[in-house]
This record gives sequence, C-alpha cells and structure tokens, in this order.
Amino acid sequence: MLREAVSSEAGAGAGAFEPVDPYSIILNGTERVVEGSWIGESLLYVLRERMGLPGSKNACEQGECGSCSVMLDGEVVCACCVLAVDAADSEVTTVEGLNASGLVDDIQSCFVEAGAVQCGFCTPGLVVAVHDLLGRRPDAGSLEVREALSGNLCRCTGYGRILEAVRLVQEKREDG
Ligand code: FES
Ligand code: FES
Repeated sequence: MLREAVSSEAGAGAGAFEPVDPYSIILNGTERVVEGSWIGESLLYVLRERMGLPGSKNACEQGECGSCSVMLDGEVVCACCVLAVDAADSEVTTVEGLNASGLVDDIQSCFVEAGAVQCGFCTPGLVVAVHDLLGRRPDAGSLEVREALSGNLCRCTGYGRILEAVRLVQEKREDG
C-alpha cells in the first residue's frame, strides 16, 4: 500500500495559492474538469469541496490516519498528501466509485453486518483499503489483512469487528 506522499506535502509552501489552469481527472470512471483551483489544493480538498464527493474523510490531513484513502492509478494513497494537480489525467477512485452501480457493495454491507462501523469516520478509508487488498489477494490471511489495514486508524472499534468484516467478505465471495 502506498502511504507516502506522492508529491510534496499538499498545501505547503508560499506559492500554494497560485491559480492553476483547468485540468482533468478521471474520477470514478468519468472525466471531470477541475476549474478555478489553486496549485496547493490537495486531492482530498478537490474531491470533497470541488467534486462534491464527501466520502473520503479528513481526519488528520497529515497522512497518518488513512481516512482519506482513495485509489490513484490503481494504488491506495492518502488523498490529503497528494497535490490534486499531480493527479491530472490520472484515474482516481473514491469510496463512492467502488461499486459501478453506485449501490452499497459487499465490503460495505459486511462492515455493517459485523458491527464494524461506530462513528464511521475511518470506514470509507478502510473500505477502500479492503477493496484494494482483496482485489489483489482474495485469500489474504489474518496477518496480511492486519498489515494491509495498518495505515488506517480507528479510534472506536478496537479493530476486532473490522477484521471480522473482512473475514465475512472473504467467506461470502468464496461461497459465490
Ligand atoms: S486525513 Fe489523510 S491520512 Fe488522515
Ligand atoms: S468507527 Fe470511529 S474511528 Fe473507526
């Protein structure tokens, strides 16, 4: 899982408020133009404030908690640490776009079934991280799951129910 900042810290620097020319992002499968933005905007800011996608959460804005996790060209990143302009012409998938139908997917429903959602702040990032892991490693064992989710902090659940939710997804997918 890519947890490092893809670029210099988003929003930092004296030139952060320089206007930037419109650019496009392939967002959840659709080309979206970002207009009227400034160069220091993070991908998280653009997703939430300009693209109307509030699913990715802003909890630390420092790359520490994983609540803003999205897929950028197939890799999980912390959207708060990516400059949005660096995502120009890239494919970005947010929690809203994981299921092409726009409906709740099996990972989300297993989180609910296992009682893995309390305040829910961490949940979108965890769902993205689980989606990534099980896409690559459907049979991931317990240790692998723990490692894959180690960048996603949850203050409420104690993680037991989150791990149970992942196990449930694996079980249901196996059963077809
Ligand atoms: S808000 Fe991005 S890692 Fe915490
Ligand atoms: S459910 Fe509250 S932070 Fe995880």
